[in-house]
Amino acid sequence: MSLYENLLLNLENGILVITINRADKLNALNIDTIREIKAAIQQVYDDPAVKGAIFTGAGEKAFVAGADISEISELSDVNARSFAERGQEVFSMIERCTKPVIAAVNGFALGGGCELAMACHMRIASEGARFGQPEVNLGLIPGYGGTQRLTQLIGKGKAMELMMTADMVGANEAKELGLVNHVVPAIELLPKCMEILTKIVSKAPLAIGLVIDCVNAVYDKDEDGYQTEANSFARCCSSEDFVEGTNAFLEKRKPVFKGA
Ligand code: COA
Repeated sequence: MSLYENLLLNLENGILVITINRADKLNALNIDTIREIKAAIQQVYDDPAVKGAIFTGAGEKAFVAGADISEISELSDVNARSFAERGQEVFSMIERCTKPVIAAVNGFALGGGCELAMACHMRIASEGARFGQPEVNLGLIPGYGGTQRLTQLIGKGKAMELMMTADMVGANEAKELGLVNHVVPAIELLPKCMEILTKIVSKAPLAIGLVIDCVNAVYDKDEDGYQTEANSFARCCSSEDFVEGTNAFLEKRKPVFKGA
């Protein structure tokens, strides 16, 4: 039996495409799906054949329409904290993954769906995608890191507005806000993500992972980002890929990186 009941996993040219597969519920994240996302991202960490990953949603309507409201409605103050912390832990794993992870946002990205997209290293949206944090409509607030990551991505005033009005924004507005990197026709969404990831994974993998670490350090109040950058720069300079990259440049050939 497959490890996954709510996800489809497909490895294409070193890129693991992880599809949230509950289209009849607009790919809402129930607890089992969160558990499966954790297992899938662990696979990205562990499997050397996986060079990068894409999260997307099944069907044409939704990326992910939020946490599963039928489960949320059962939460009490006793289990709600661990519910939020479990989701936060999984989304932090995505954010901290040292292999590149892109959200291919193919429709509604609401609540936990917007939070999942924001945990990825970048977001590419189809023209019909819609983003929002509508939790206040339910008497809730975002609980999977949304209050933090939305503010980091689009700034305090706009984040306050989106979270307090529960308004949705379309793909082009999301791009203007800085929530989305590119907007493309639906048919070009996965090819565009593949194109970007193919380019990234052709670079030195250690350097790519250290870029991710250093950018994340900006948002870690316990870390001195400049120190992290200097340490990471030094780490690169002791790598085989640095020798290969600089030699290849001087010898006017393409580098062959090993990730070491
Ligand atoms: N949790 C559980 N089920 C959800 C869901 C969610 N977050 N979002 C959608 N669904 C389910 C609906 O209940 C419906 O199931 P049903 O066919 O068994 O009744 C199915 O998905 C289709 O949704 P529906 O509401 O009929 O689609 P729509 O096109 O009319 O509206 C949305 C789309 C996204 C605007 C609407 O589904 C919605 O507002 N969803 C909730 C968004 C939200 O508040 N997310 C944050 C949760 S914390």
